[in-house]
Amino acid sequence: MLVKMGDLLADAQKGNYAVGSFSVANMEMVLGALKAAKELNAPIILQIAEVRLKQSPLEIIGPLMVAAAESAETPVAVHFDHGKTLEKITQALDIGFTSVMFDGSHLPLDENIAMTKRVIELAAEYDADVEAEIGCVGGSEDGSEDIAINCTKVEDAVRFEAETGVDALAIAIGNAHGNYKSTPKLRFDILEEVEKNTDLPLVLHGGTGITPDDFVHCSHTGIKKINIATATFDSVENNVNKCYNDGSIKGYYDLQSAEVEGAYQNVKKHILIFGTDNKA
Ligand code: 13P
Repeated sequence: MLVKMGDLLADAQKGNYAVGSFSVANMEMVLGALKAAKELNAPIILQIAEVRLKQSPLEIIGPLMVAAAESAETPVAVHFDHGKTLEKITQALDIGFTSVMFDGSHLPLDENIAMTKRVIELAAEYDADVEAEIGCVGGSEDGSEDIAINCTKVEDAVRFEAETGVDALAIAIGNAHGNYKSTPKLRFDILEEVEKNTDLPLVLHGGTGITPDDFVHCSHTGIKKINIATATFDSVENNVNKCYNDGSIKGYYDLQSAEVEGAYQNVKKHILIFGTDNKA
């Protein structure tokens, strides 16, 4: 069933786990994610980022994501990731996304706060939730920009919470989008301070390549939403390659099944690590 991100994150705060927010690019990835969620009786979030709309137009994939969530047997929120323009954020809300992210992490804090408040007002007209980001997560969602990591300042998080009343806050603690060149060293000292000084559900971007132990540590230290993109794209591609190599793809529909399976495997793996199984 289609649900709000805020409700999933409130349950995660009570239950001391994190909810996976899985990026999708096509119907096969949506089907794979839902298959894993159903099998493990898990709530999940389906998301797509604004930079990905070149390949997957919002007016086509958006209704598909909402319809998939509505028909799902477990709670599924539909989230617009890294919204940069009011135009696309509004389009996502019109389509029925239950939450949007406004990514003002590159802006001075005052401007980020002002813009986030505008997006919160807009989303309120749709009864939708809003995620924002402070500090800079490294890289960019589609790898097109080499953004340097700039860890979140605790005092900025406190001010952001007080002045915006945002529903979820993405923070930068040494995490980055895409495949890491070496295992990241997350700044748990910063995470602990932000957790201590705010009540917000916190969001970890750049989930691909973070170790299971670090995911669990994060989910017990205020992180309630974890974004996974590259690992699912890689899993789909690797499974398709494997199936071509072992001869199990004999036609188009075998290829389609291999894509669904690749997404399913990665989403399942992360649901189990995040502890969202049997939390539907
Ligand atoms: P990864 O591609 O590193 O998994 O990051 C996903 C993400 O944070 C999307 O916003």
